Amino acid sequence: METKWWQDEVVYQIYPKSFYDSNGDGIGDLKGITKKLDYLEELGITMIWICPIFTSPMIDNGYDISDFEGINPEFGTMDDFDQLLAESKKRNIKIILDLVINHTSDEHFWFQEALKDPLSKYRDYYIFKTGVNGNPPNNWRSIFGGSVWEKLPNEDLYYLHVFDKKQPDLNWENKEMRQELYAMINRWLDKGVEGFRIDSITFIKKDSDYASLPADGADGLVSCKHKTRNRPGIENFLNELKANTFEKYDAVTVGEAPGVKYEDFHRFIGKDGYFSMIFDFHYADIDVESGSDWFKRTNWTVSEFKELLFQSQRALQNAGWGANFLENHDQPRVLSKMVREKEWQTPETAKTFGMLYFFLRGTPFIYQGQELGMKNFNRSAIDAFNDISSIDNYYRSIQEGFTEEEALHFVNMRSRDNTRTPFPWNGERYGGFTTGKPWLDMTEEYPEINAVNNSVYTFYQKMIQLRRNSAWSSVLTFGNIKEIKDVPEEVIAYERADEEKRIVILVNLSTEKKKVVLNESAENIILHSQSKPVITGEEIIMEPYQGITIG
Ligand code: NOJ
Repeated sequence: METKWWQDEVVYQIYPKSFYDSNGDGIGDLKGITKKLDYLEELGITMIWICPIFTSPMIDNGYDISDFEGINPEFGTMDDFDQLLAESKKRNIKIILDLVINHTSDEHFWFQEALKDPLSKYRDYYIFKTGVNGNPPNNWRSIFGGSVWEKLPNEDLYYLHVFDKKQPDLNWENKEMRQELYAMINRWLDKGVEGFRIDSITFIKKDSDYASLPADGADGLVSCKHKTRNRPGIENFLNELKANTFEKYDAVTVGEAPGVKYEDFHRFIGKDGYFSMIFDFHYADIDVESGSDWFKRTNWTVSEFKELLFQSQRALQNAGWGANFLENHDQPRVLSKMVREKEWQTPETAKTFGMLYFFLRGTPFIYQGQELGMKNFNRSAIDAFNDISSIDNYYRSIQEGFTEEEALHFVNMRSRDNTRTPFPWNGERYGGFTTGKPWLDMTEEYPEINAVNNSVYTFYQKMIQLRRNSAWSSVLTFGNIKEIKDVPEEVIAYERADEEKRIVILVNLSTEKKKVVLNESAENIILHSQSKPVITGEEIIMEPYQGITIG
């Protein structure tokens, strides 16, 4: 594969509302990000992805955009953004933005015009359908619960929203609408952003029959994913999008592409793929049967995780390039999700998980706070949650027959608020995040787990340095990945190799010591978590939840 500029980047994801508040209103902002660029530079990352900063009523924290080219006043002004861009550039840090083009806010000018005037051209920018015998057009359930259809007050007409009712879906069949999106994207690229993380992009094509399907839940509805996600014909939209925008700028694009089948990966990330890379969710969602129904919990095993992880890596390697991640603003913290034993949810285990994913083949993404070893936040009542999806999942669980305690448990395990808590910069009041009152409670552990003297942070620094600036950089970036199979069931092992070098990563995901025998000397340890491993020639005794990198 021909190498690309974005392959050796290390990306840091910022949730702006919770990163750093520069003006004491309890909400993080753009100036706050600028103030903390030195922290990011010191960590060693090279690119930041900022979750939506655009004008928005914020019912989905910015994934409901009412003006694609305005900055949400909560976050600052366009001048603040320009300053952030300039200051990042000085530090060789690139910026990518979140591109949300499957839907807008219902407060977007286009939608407001569409509502006001049936003859407006904007009506066809969205998806309107007439009802069937006083009912919605079909029985599809939206991702955030309830029907995907919302009725207009004075007409027998409904509009479609795959997410919340305040997030109407755009009608990608409308060429003029698509052209307006492309022009908007190009204006951001002209401004100097290096690319985009592209939200929910596999939802832009809907099956044109809009047919109902057999219900799959107590609400009588069926997940809309079967008819709205990765549907035939999407390739035309995605090719056109790329040709009219990203390709012209050599921009980096990271597709949020859940549900793409492995055999289709080449279409997404192959040589002429739609995107530079995609997030693969097959193993991220191992703890739940479906990323959107949190009450369907699984009893996953390390073997299953291992199988999914390598299946994913093989598919990414065969097709192109992946975007590797442990956490993001929709996922729980990895320590809480993957480590069942509370006593093992430690900084050392956070390092082990860091090592497990950071050296996979692809571009690593670090979500804010992951580099501190943060954990989930346990809330004792549903009204302590802000996230719309948490509230929906709570009531759906109860509707499915679970008790309130069980429903709360599911939400605590999976809530998107777990990773959205304000960033703990230090052990002082509100973790030094704000001088006011934070918009969302801090995690309980912020007095201990924060950015001061944090050994997980130092470990991430080392991993970044190894990948970016060491004798191992090339193999860790471009080398092929292969699973090493002859190891205990609960050990995950792989090699990265090129013509010159080979590096081995071993991770023990159990509470017991494990013996691993390699076919070569294991004495050259480059990095390890937990206490120093005991190695005799080719034999290694791994500590519980230990990670070791051997060169
Ligand atoms: C995926 C985003 O990551 C999530 O936070 C958002 O709620 C939905 N897309 C809708 O935009």
